[in-house]
Amino acid sequence: PIVVLDFGSQYTQIIARKLRESGVYSEIVPYSESIEDIMARTPKGLILSGGPASVYATDSYHPDSTIFDLGLPILGICYGMQLIAQHFGGSVVPASSHEYGKAKLEFIDENEIFKDTPNGQTVWMSHGDRVESIPSGFEKIAISENSPFAAIADTSKNIYAFQFHPEVYHSEYGTKLLKNFAKYICGCESTWNMGSFAKEQIDRVKKQVGNKKVLCAVSGGVDSSVVATLLFEAIGNQVIPVFVDNGLLRANERDQVETIFRSRGIDLITVDASEKFLSKLAGITDPETKRKIIGETFIEVFDTEAKKHSGVEFLAQGTLYTDVIESVSVKGPSKTIKSHHNVGGLPDWMKFELVEPLREIFKDEVRELGLELGLPRNMINRHPFPGPGLAIRVMGDVNKPDLDLLRKADIILLDVLHSTGYYEKTWQAFTVLLNVKSVGVMGDNRTYDNTVCVRIVDATDGMTATFAHIPHEILETISRRIINEVDGINRVVYDISSKPPATIEWE
Ligand code: XMP
Repeated sequence: PIVVLDFGSQYTQIIARKLRESGVYSEIVPYSESIEDIMARTPKGLILSGGPASVYATDSYHPDSTIFDLGLPILGICYGMQLIAQHFGGSVVPASSHEYGKAKLEFIDENEIFKDTPNGQTVWMSHGDRVESIPSGFEKIAISENSPFAAIADTSKNIYAFQFHPEVYHSEYGTKLLKNFAKYICGCESTWNMGSFAKEQIDRVKKQVGNKKVLCAVSGGVDSSVVATLLFEAIGNQVIPVFVDNGLLRANERDQVETIFRSRGIDLITVDASEKFLSKLAGITDPETKRKIIGETFIEVFDTEAKKHSGVEFLAQGTLYTDVIESVSVKGPSKTIKSHHNVGGLPDWMKFELVEPLREIFKDEVRELGLELGLPRNMINRHPFPGPGLAIRVMGDVNKPDLDLLRKADIILLDVLHSTGYYEKTWQAFTVLLNVKSVGVMGDNRTYDNTVCVRIVDATDGMTATFAHIPHEILETISRRIINEVDGINRVVYDISSKPPATIEWE
């Protein structure tokens, strides 16, 4: 692959995405990755991303400097360019003003990296510091009005650097430039696609697991379903697919999941642990405590299940790149907002090794992979559902009557969204049972009942989200149906907060 070293730019992920879209496999690693780990990925070239730091600041981020001695082609972007300039003896200065926005790229040299792209193309600049003098051995290959060194190269070493960001949308031929680097400078073929990714991961799993067994936790969500399917392709009945009914599932969920898997010839082992979960949650109101209890109980259940089979040494998880990014990001130690229970590994006493075939890719890529593996579209397009389930959608104490009430409201919401086409148009939709009662009037009688909040959001990866602009008539139908059809609810409100500053789930 092409390995991208992440220096914390908000665009790093797009570099890898653009390369993959052009048929070149690419992986992202934190800038501090050891040289051994980088080489273990057998890279054909390296890309140094942009980043928020200054190379001359005392706390700036530097990679292991031996990366420059490996003889591998390197492309530095923005901050990555400044690192290259600094390493080879050029100088970097703070720009008098930040250069931000579109610029016209003028070629000085007919370099291969520009092949099949026009002189004068628009590129996107976004930087504070700039290179003032370039190291010996390097030459400028392109300029722009405000950047005398918009692109530089030492072609004898195959080291290139751009001051602009080829990965962003506004760089007209940016994807082509990245592809040119991969193709002409690194010698990569553009033969990669989701099908080849599936094959590679299947091989990787076979190698990793050998003849041992893998416990595969299936939640019914897209990620774990794709993992389970991939594992079955790889190692067949060495997979033990476990579905835990924790008593916190949505209405009919258990049946639906069992049916989908059975139709694919996979017999899920359903463990009914609902009483265990609910009794441990009784009386608990603090959101983080709820999450911790649920996480620990899942581990306990898996451990018990694993002990029933011999030779289980692995646990498969549907961890995605977005789940890992916060922990490896260079943005400094990040605060725990919520403990997502599938990240952060296993407790020390559990001797499982993890199998995580989706670690490098994004949600929409997982969907593509799922289709490639033959999963049905209605499974692929399911909204995300959190591991702690309805427990974090019942505010305060979690008990069966409240869960049942919430399930009734939830199923009505989904029904309306499916029938109006809004299910597929939105990222996630659910109801929250607020621990709030209010006065209402039904017929001639006073009611004093529960309030349900409807939460529908648009997002691309769940890291940020906005509340969905659902037509008022549809909101009206949702509200009317919930209040009329669910005994015990007399008020429905719509959540109009975005993330940040709110989060998607209420707990
Ligand atoms: P928040 O509430 O953090 O949620 O804005 C972002 C996305 O993650 C889902 N979510 C979880 N998924 N385990 C999961 O697998 C969890 O513990 C968890 N908590 C939240 C949430 O539904 C949304 O899609």
